[in-house]
Amino acid sequence: MRQHHRTLRLLGSLLLVATGVSATGAAPARPAPSTPLDRVVPAPASVAPGGSPYRITPDTHIRVDDSGEARRVGEYLAAVLRPSTGYRLPVTTRGGGGIRLRLAKGPFGAEGYRLDSGRKGVTLTAAEPAGLFHGVQTLRQLLPAAVEKDSVQPGPWLVAGGTIKDTPRYGWRGAMLDVSRHFFTVDQVKRYIDQLALYKINKLHLHLSDDQGWRIAIDSWPRLATYRGSTQVGGGPGGHYTKADYQEIVRYASSRYLEVVPEIDMPGHTNAALASYAELNCDGVAPALYTGTEVGFSSLCVGKEITYDFVDDVIRELAALTPGAYLHIGGDEAHSTSHEDYVKFMDRVQPIVAGYGKTVIGWHQLTGATPAKGALAQYWGLDGTGAEEKERVAAAARGGTGIILSPADRIYLDMKYTADTPLGLDWAGLVEVKRSYDWDPGDYLPGAPASAVRGVEAPLWTETISKSADIEYMAFPRLAGVAELGWSPAATHDWDAYKVRLAAQGPRWEALGIGYYRSPQVPWPAQRG
Ligand code: ACM
Repeated sequence: MRQHHRTLRLLGSLLLVATGVSATGAAPARPAPSTPLDRVVPAPASVAPGGSPYRITPDTHIRVDDSGEARRVGEYLAAVLRPSTGYRLPVTTRGGGGIRLRLAKGPFGAEGYRLDSGRKGVTLTAAEPAGLFHGVQTLRQLLPAAVEKDSVQPGPWLVAGGTIKDTPRYGWRGAMLDVSRHFFTVDQVKRYIDQLALYKINKLHLHLSDDQGWRIAIDSWPRLATYRGSTQVGGGPGGHYTKADYQEIVRYASSRYLEVVPEIDMPGHTNAALASYAELNCDGVAPALYTGTEVGFSSLCVGKEITYDFVDDVIRELAALTPGAYLHIGGDEAHSTSHEDYVKFMDRVQPIVAGYGKTVIGWHQLTGATPAKGALAQYWGLDGTGAEEKERVAAAARGGTGIILSPADRIYLDMKYTADTPLGLDWAGLVEVKRSYDWDPGDYLPGAPASAVRGVEAPLWTETISKSADIEYMAFPRLAGVAELGWSPAATHDWDAYKVRLAAQGPRWEALGIGYYRSPQVPWPAQRG
């Protein structure tokens, strides 16, 4: 025991020396240590630490290339740094030292970047503004967590010396928010977008319609939003996005380099539409509004021509609002549609999407029909999903259908962490943080070529989720792991190393006001205050 104490004391003084604080408690001989260059989530592709750190001071400028987008990224960075540092941090195109954002040709791809840090400054270089933006997220994590606070903090603001070269493994790193079961306002969606951007997520899939709600105004079918936007699970007031609201979400997402992927789920999950317009029902009778949480009881009427007029109008109006390449048509849990009708429906509807210039995405049941050329299938099965169903998806992948992986017992963010989790569901299982992180998208689906995998996406269904704090508790920390699966090279995958980097995110989330699940699997630092 005594030996143990001495060892601890010795260790303690070594640590003090290492951190530059003298053992006598005098003023630091050297500045406090900076965050190691590799303590970043998602893990960068390559990290070479070395050389002196850079210190952000009251004289630091943010110098940007003379391009509108580089300047916007510079202003975004300044807006992150100014409140906590208290420094002016002018964004300039000439002169001024310190932080530099450069657009240049190089091996960066559409989203990669290089970060060089040394005594004189930090330079981010990328071929595209998205790369600069992702580099800015890395830079944030290299600064103390207090940089995320909205009041002046003491600093010092050091960035470790060295070089990071970083490009993503996958082009699809998504998050889905179900705004149908519970409605979320534009501001709530923006808050989530800002959180997704921290981890280099680049797609926001909005589940805009379901049995319980229709959330987007469609001019040619106005009752969808005004009638079926009027409630939600549990019978609350619901809501819907006007076209201007939706465009504001698209604009804001784009300013954070996320593409919005809208989903109108069909032919099932359509009670909202069926309740709004009697003529869409095979029997001509509108069902009642639905505020429960059962699935699989509704279907558009595949045999009626008006169904395709409806689908055409909705897709046309939504496509016109959506600059992104994709339109998600759902296709899951069509338990009230016969297989024959399902195939017929998808054969009619996929060309409508193409006709408005968009690429089809469907949940993986789409592979039970004939996916259009170029379509993507979003796999939401479980480890235990039957071999036949997995093989159907794998065969489509071999035939050219791209795959987005959203395995429900891994990365459905609405699954409870443990039996005690107060929110969420458990039909796919209990999903602790390690389970959510510890799988490889590259070899997850037997028989699917790795080249068919476009990436990963973390859905958050909202039967039990009704406010931002709920979103955050379910998303954090698992969302960070999904982001790493999507971004980082497979060679970096290691739970023991990841959990240490993940633990360092805790104080950042606290500084940002994000209430996360403090999983006992993660060695979080003690909470302050
Ligand atoms: C789904 O969870 N029904 C896609």
